[in-house]
Amino acid sequence: MDNKKIPVLDKSKWGWWRSAVLYQIYPKSFQDTNGDGLGDIPGIIAHLDYLQELGIDGIWLSPVYDSPQVDNGYDISDYRAIWPPLGTMEDMETLIREAGKRGITIIMDLVLNHSSDKHFWFQEALKGRDNPYHDYYVWADGTPDAPPNDMRASFGGSAWEWVPELGQYYFHQFAVGQPDLNWENPKVRRELYDMIRFWVDKGVGGFRLDVIDQIAKEPFRKITKNGPRLHEFVRELSREAFIEEGLVTVGETWGVTVDQAKLYSAPDASELSMVFQFDHICVDREPGGLWGSRPFSLPALKRVMEHWQKGLYGTGWNSLFLENHDLPRIVSRWGDEGQYRVQSAKMLATMLHGMAGTPYIYQGEELGMTNPPLTLEEIVDVGAINDYQERLAEGWSPEQAMRYLHAWCRDNARTPMQWTAGENAGFSTAKPWLPVDPNHTRVNAQAALADPDSVFYHYKKLIALRKGLNVFRDGTFTLLEPEDEKLFVYTRDTDREHLLVVCNFTADAVAWQRPAAFVDAELLLSNYGAPQAALRPYEAQMFYLEDREA
Ligand code: NOJ
Repeated sequence: MDNKKIPVLDKSKWGWWRSAVLYQIYPKSFQDTNGDGLGDIPGIIAHLDYLQELGIDGIWLSPVYDSPQVDNGYDISDYRAIWPPLGTMEDMETLIREAGKRGITIIMDLVLNHSSDKHFWFQEALKGRDNPYHDYYVWADGTPDAPPNDMRASFGGSAWEWVPELGQYYFHQFAVGQPDLNWENPKVRRELYDMIRFWVDKGVGGFRLDVIDQIAKEPFRKITKNGPRLHEFVRELSREAFIEEGLVTVGETWGVTVDQAKLYSAPDASELSMVFQFDHICVDREPGGLWGSRPFSLPALKRVMEHWQKGLYGTGWNSLFLENHDLPRIVSRWGDEGQYRVQSAKMLATMLHGMAGTPYIYQGEELGMTNPPLTLEEIVDVGAINDYQERLAEGWSPEQAMRYLHAWCRDNARTPMQWTAGENAGFSTAKPWLPVDPNHTRVNAQAALADPDSVFYHYKKLIALRKGLNVFRDGTFTLLEPEDEKLFVYTRDTDREHLLVVCNFTADAVAWQRPAAFVDAELLLSNYGAPQAALRPYEAQMFYLEDREA
């Protein structure tokens, strides 16, 4: 077969993703096939059957582009090339084709807010103020000791980096090696649209847009998120680059409001398919404060979920997620890492996958992977290292700072995928770039596939249910017992179908009475088996009823 001919997936109708479940792969940590301790694209191809077995419809691939890896590929030096340790362009084409054969769409990560400082554009820009690429970035005159303002970069330090040769600062919202692109320059926008078409022509089925809410920055007015021209830019992007029928696009938008999300995910396809909002993820965090600065409260989580479920009903579209490559493992966070690891992983999945929106599963979440016991020396993330230094500077002890990293650092999600109980968890024959969690002897895909009661098969059932019953896509959301501190209970309803979900968020037995309307309902799914008088620790049940009124 001609390797260059990539079949187009039969998902030609915009909106297919409303019944889909997507899976995020962090390529460096998925599967190594060439013995260098780093995951690679052939490693993803090798596990496509596993993903097909799970039942997912698409893979969101964290960046695979050429990059100096200051921020694990979120610093791109060539948008049209693959980072060699991950494989070749041919590998990428094979991945798109092989995934397509299994009904799986490839969704690439698009980092449009910034490039790497090693990108040709930036290297040219450094050559002089008159260089045609200079205006691809955001510059400010000044003196070495007086940056234009006190804006801080997300990974610490000033957001302004001095370039003595030019007598100018450049603006970077993230690491020094991630200069911000100047979206006010139409040439930049054109370059990016052309690059996107390059990937669409290769058969890519969608994009996840990194910090898309930060592209329309106006740093001199200290505006980074939600700049005045943001939606104008996103609409242009959609028009110029995403016209391909069926593309799924999801924007990363921390702090987005429901009203803003309605613009982004308007059903007329003028912007994106959906956005990631993070209100639920920030429920145990004071606004602007540190992770964990507020105790977890189930009523607060329920309020947030209800707000988004109701807020976007019929007017936009939610994305549903509990984990990604920037967040700790959800079992360690809201579940139980010990005795009830399996039950709590299933309970959290049930809570989320019963809702309206497109669910995303982060690699290893379907195994109930937990936060690994990394030491300071083993942690490599630029954000985590900076966090540690900042905590020490604030007067924390090294032990306190380490406790913080153990709970919250981004490397929690980035340790290798646990495939087997064997050496390096079957991830690599060499020393992995991040250590594998010692619990891989118990928590691994091979064991999960052999155990019909595993977390994996619970996810598989949830995915299959969503595909089979319209209520998952179309039902309205009603929160029951909003103030209950232990149970998360809700219903989803269409004219004909009714779903009841109850989740015990605690290790206690909790007495609970099924609402009268659901007494005769069918038990669709549970993490324990037949219901008993009280809900058992971390028990989750899902009931289904058709034509309740008939
Ligand atoms: C958000 C990504 O998810 C994160 O991993 C990255 O560090 C920043 N954007 C900068 O690109």
